Amino acid sequence: MDEIVVIEGFHMPSEPWWKYAKPIIKVVPPGPNARKVIEEHRRYIATTTHDPEHLPLVIKRGDGVWWEDVDGNVYLDFSSGVSVLNVGIGNPRLIEALEKQIREVGHAAGTDFFNEIQVNLAKKLTRIAPGDFEKKVFYSNSGTESIEAAIKIAKYGTERKLFIGFIGGFHGRTLGSLSLTASKPIHHKRTFPTSPGFYHAPYPNPYRNPWHIDGYENPDELVNRVIEYIEEYMLNCYVPADEVAAIVFEPIQGEGGYVVPPKNFFKELRKLANRYGMLLIDDEVQMGLGRTGKMFAIEHFNTEPEIICLAKALGGGYMPIGATIYKKELDFKEAGVHSNTFGGHCLACAVALITIEIIENELLDNVKKLEPIFKERLEEMYNKYRIIGDVRGMGLAWGIEFVKDRKTKEYAIKERNKILLESLKRGLVALGCGRSSIRLIPALCITEELVKLGLDILEDAIKVVSS
Ligand SMILES: Cc1ncc(COP(=O)(O)O)c(C=O)c1O
Repeated sequence: MDEIVVIEGFHMPSEPWWKYAKPIIKVVPPGPNARKVIEEHRRYIATTTHDPEHLPLVIKRGDGVWWEDVDGNVYLDFSSGVSVLNVGIGNPRLIEALEKQIREVGHAAGTDFFNEIQVNLAKKLTRIAPGDFEKKVFYSNSGTESIEAAIKIAKYGTERKLFIGFIGGFHGRTLGSLSLTASKPIHHKRTFPTSPGFYHAPYPNPYRNPWHIDGYENPDELVNRVIEYIEEYMLNCYVPADEVAAIVFEPIQGEGGYVVPPKNFFKELRKLANRYGMLLIDDEVQMGLGRTGKMFAIEHFNTEPEIICLAKALGGGYMPIGATIYKKELDFKEAGVHSNTFGGHCLACAVALITIEIIENELLDNVKKLEPIFKERLEEMYNKYRIIGDVRGMGLAWGIEFVKDRKTKEYAIKERNKILLESLKRGLVALGCGRSSIRLIPALCITEELVKLGLDILEDAIKVVSS
């Protein structure tokens, strides 16, 4: 892109106007208003994951695939609020559903009293979730809680205590889910001990794995090594197989760098789990609900897990909600083993119902249509810029890993951060992941023109940083 086009008087119009707008950069972010908010935020709010140096975005409002900041800049969004805003920001049908539900009831003590809307959502979730068996749903408020519930359900249902997760996996930051999380040491800093009984195997990362196998060229070899590692070096050495309740995985590792495993990995994992009577727990918190072109990413791998965890996009960006969908026979046999206050909140269920409907009926085809545009364009960039070590993804879930040297694969962390900042300055919002990767995860309703525009801006930022 030669220059950023500024459109005066942009008022966040509702559909379909926003589809044709371009970023507006009035002042280099962070502008004066943004700086003030960031300063006060840092003074009053707990330190979490913000990086004000490289992502100084202070949002005032949003619409569709656009964010407006407090200084009047308008950005194209390739982050979908971390895979939450799959149906776009401010989708009018969600607002309508929410308004209708607010007038009826919000909190209805859904774990003590009964209500119809949570039953309707559970019917829908159990219908769309893979697995040719009867299922039930536990509701919560976040991804980490949906994992915590999965852990308890697996323990209760199998009467086994141990779990196997994967290196590079991210499942949340509360102490149970944190025991599975293994994507960055910082998540564990000063929190030891987490739960005992959680073990980790290498994930079949085709680009980086302990055996230095090129997993794109030799996917079967990579999968065999991982399965062999679990059986020979874990189950035969120190993890009693008949005490393992479940193997927990992300179908594509998200926080760990948008890592796509070889096609047959989960089939082999399924066979291994069956050999020892273990369950499979599929964490779809980031990849679920249409992100990869199917409702659940695991559907690309033709594997049926006993437990599936959802959160993020389920609430359409308006309500926090988590859902753990599980094989009915694992259910608690008495009341009180697991519960919460807000699970199955009526407002959350109302937006979840309409969110699923929109994704299922209207957006999956759009994701499939846009996938080749990302694929071709990212491969083109890989061929142009040596700073790109790997590109990978499917649907609208893409990762670019930046390296200082393609041979040594040394992580280009500073460069990645600079690319994020340069993109933002040009009007594109994207997020990092892994150690030196960027994830490109726009809302599933984005148009072809805007995908191309976003990729133009990103390429411009990569060009500037790599030169
Ligand atoms: C795959 C996965 N699982 C679990 C979580 C935790 O979700 P939450 O932040 O809502 O607790 C995340 C969050 O990014 C995630 O990506």
